[in-house]
Amino acid sequence: MNTLQMPAHLFLASLGKKMLRPGGIRATKRILDKLQLTSESVVLEVAPNMGTTAIYTAKTYGCKVIGVDLHGPSLEKAKENIKKEGLEDQITLLMGDARKLPFENECFDAVINEAMLTMLPNKGKHEALMEYHRVLKKGGRLGTHDLTLSYPPSEELLNEFWNLLKMMATPLTLEAWDGLYKEIPFTSYEIVKGKMSLVSLDGLLIDEGWEETIQILQQAMQSNESKERFLSLASFFSKHSDLFGHCTIHAQK
Ligand SMILES: C[S@@+](CC[C@H](N)C(=O)[O-])C[C@H]1O[C@@H](n2cnc3c(N)ncnc32)[C@H](O)[C@@H]1O
Repeated sequence: MNTLQMPAHLFLASLGKKMLRPGGIRATKRILDKLQLTSESVVLEVAPNMGTTAIYTAKTYGCKVIGVDLHGPSLEKAKENIKKEGLEDQITLLMGDARKLPFENECFDAVINEAMLTMLPNKGKHEALMEYHRVLKKGGRLGTHDLTLSYPPSEELLNEFWNLLKMMATPLTLEAWDGLYKEIPFTSYEIVKGKMSLVSLDGLLIDEGWEETIQILQQAMQSNESKERFLSLASFFSKHSDLFGHCTIHAQK
């Protein structure tokens, strides 16, 4: 696919970036810490892409992880990564849609979903959250991680954002995320806000490490198109750092 036209997360993945989420590994650890996972847990990760969080979760807790994503090529990459780690017995991948999960009611101890709800229209966000609630056991826990906004953006800025991402993602303000979760019958939920660190230098260094950051930047400089795309993403989020942040939400059934 053309570098300038592919969705931003696939572009960043093509440069070698492994964490495709707005708050990076720090936000991932924050949601995982609250899921009370043990080696007995059965975890659903919706939208694992290349499997970075699924692998981290399986290795850290020794639990089983089932990953469901819509994108075939990313699932193929995830399969390779899981094989490299020797985790085929712990992690299973399926192609599927968050809004219509191929599972019975109440079969997971925990559900993880990072940087995906933002990609769905608001009706789809609601449908996906209802599905996560349906497949969780009673008392089971959900952890989500998404983009959030400090205030509703102008139409012009939203168009610039869509054009930059090459997709019509709809991030919400904290109030709107709160309103959405209020509609889902969880017994409780908690929202935590943080910075957007997807393409900031400190985010890259923390999430990917020194050597990998250098490789990602070198890869971005390989052609004029990828240089232009990477720099426009980095400068947009740096310029609008007061508007874009991430939020993690932990909910219990
Ligand atoms: C921005 S990436 C995030 C990947 C990964 N969770 C991470 O945080 O690094 C979004 C992922 O959501 C997947 N996705 C988008 N819509 C989906 C849906 N309706 N159901 C399942 N997966 C979806 C995409 O294929 C992609 O892998």
